[in-house]
Amino acid sequence: MDKKLSTIAVMTAGGDAPGMNACIRAVVRTASAHNLDVIGVMNGFEGLIEGELRPLSPRDVGGILGRGGTILQTHRSLRFKELEGQREALRHINEAGIEAIVVIGGDGSMRGAQILSQQGVRVVGIPASIDNDVWGTQLTIGVDTTLNTIMDAIDKLRDTASSHNRAFLVETMGRGSGYLALMAGIACGAEMVLIPEVQVSVAEVGRAIEDAYKRGKNHAIVINAEGSGHRTTDLAETLNKMDLGFKTRVTILGHIQRGGTPSALTRIIAMRMGYKAVTSLVEGQSGMMVALHGREVKLVALEDVVTKPRSANLDYYEMMRVLAR
Ligand code: F6P
Repeated sequence: MDKKLSTIAVMTAGGDAPGMNACIRAVVRTASAHNLDVIGVMNGFEGLIEGELRPLSPRDVGGILGRGGTILQTHRSLRFKELEGQREALRHINEAGIEAIVVIGGDGSMRGAQILSQQGVRVVGIPASIDNDVWGTQLTIGVDTTLNTIMDAIDKLRDTASSHNRAFLVETMGRGSGYLALMAGIACGAEMVLIPEVQVSVAEVGRAIEDAYKRGKNHAIVINAEGSGHRTTDLAETLNKMDLGFKTRVTILGHIQRGGTPSALTRIIAMRMGYKAVTSLVEGQSGMMVALHGREVKLVALEDVVTKPRSANLDYYEMMRVLAR
């Protein structure tokens, strides 16, 4: 039987995502309900290596529920990939009397959580990433908010595109996953989406824009995921040399997609996951990640999360094309 917990830590790592604060709040307050002390690790795994720790009380997490970003700040730590960095992190964990850790972050952070687990640290991961590219969970914390941000931007771009009879190439985030671009394509009625999972030639993009023109549309929206293989500005330059009916303009949404107040869905998922992570640790679970499965928040093994890829569902790709007619 595992030793009863008295002190846990919580950290956010990798790229920030809206809803991380709501999740931190849920972790701290659930822990308090179980009479656990909570230590906040600043700056993700880098802060763990440097011993940047601060106590977190239920009052410290008041008023953060609706704030984007993360009060614990975050970092993309290269040093934690090395044994030396991991040793330093373990030293700080032991010296601070941390008996278990909640790691909130994306796929890279879940790999970090798995490393801690393999080194004997009790750990539960919480998937938070705007990319929704973490295996084992239907949704990650943040992705719904980001989709709403993208949708809002594209709706605005469509107004001006229609007024000028133009095509717009809109670049979304998602280095390795087309989820955001594809879902935004459906939500915004795009003519085409370019995603890492499907290779599309420049000629095909041109054809999609020209077809929209010939079908009598007064605009065309093409969403280009950051990792599609097409550089957005280069693509627009080439398209503008072709006679497609529409001229093309470019909008790169960039880091705007990562900020902002979390949506209701993001907040609720964040809090359900934070609550579940702490209750799971109290029940003696470790080496797991909380995950949304239909109506339930369940546990999946970190081992599976870090070895299985998650890419966009291509059934939606075909649907988007049909609905763009
Ligand atoms: O993983 C989240 C994400 O926003 C990706 O979509 C994007 O490719 C990347 O982070 C950008 O990272 P950074 O903020 O470090 O430039």
